[in-house]
Amino acid sequence: MMEKQENQVLIREAKHSDVPRFINTIAKAKTIGNCTHREYLRWIVREGFAYVAENKKRPVGFLLAERNSKVGAHVNYVFIHRKYRGKGLGTNLMKTFLMTCKKKGVRYIDLNAKNTALGFYRHFGFKTEGKYAVLYKKLRAN
Ligand SMILES: CC(C)(COP(=O)(O)OP(=O)(O)OC[C@H]1O[C@@H](n2cnc3c(N)ncnc32)[C@H](O)[C@@H]1OP(=O)(O)O)[C@@H](O)C(=O)NCCC(=O)NCCS
Repeated sequence: MMEKQENQVLIREAKHSDVPRFINTIAKAKTIGNCTHREYLRWIVREGFAYVAENKKRPVGFLLAERNSKVGAHVNYVFIHRKYRGKGLGTNLMKTFLMTCKKKGVRYIDLNAKNTALGFYRHFGFKTEGKYAVLYKKLRAN
């Protein structure tokens, strides 16, 4: 699926050849411990929801989400290259994702957000309350 956006950046479905780039970016961000594995990301590209924002054929952002069940999805990562932030590209990725979820019968979406990104997700109707509680415990180093 391809969608031409007003700002000339194209949102396209991700391919297995995009995986090394996902790994590079996610590894640099050092935020996701459990998804640096190539096979795991290939599984998301194959079975889940994976979109790339492209400017003149160069990827400038992506959205990755797992399909947890027939009716549930979990957003793993949304990333827009620093230079391209604040131009609506995150919105374009999220809208494409939400539209596809609806078409495919997904009824629940959850995610873990950094405090700095809460506003972005609230923009699309994500709320801190939901079907599942997210419990948090900080462990002291020994
Ligand atoms: C968060 C991120 C994906 C947003 O993408 P973006 O293309 O800059 O966002 P958009 O331009 O589409 O913004 C959409 C709306 O959300 C708001 N928004 C964007 N980023 C926000 C943030 N970090 N906090 C609060 N609001 C935010 C914008 O102001 C805009 O609202 P408006 O339409 O009322 O002006 C991008 O900033 C990013 O990649 N950040 C670093 C990685 C990250 O934090 N990812 C989330 C991991 S949990």
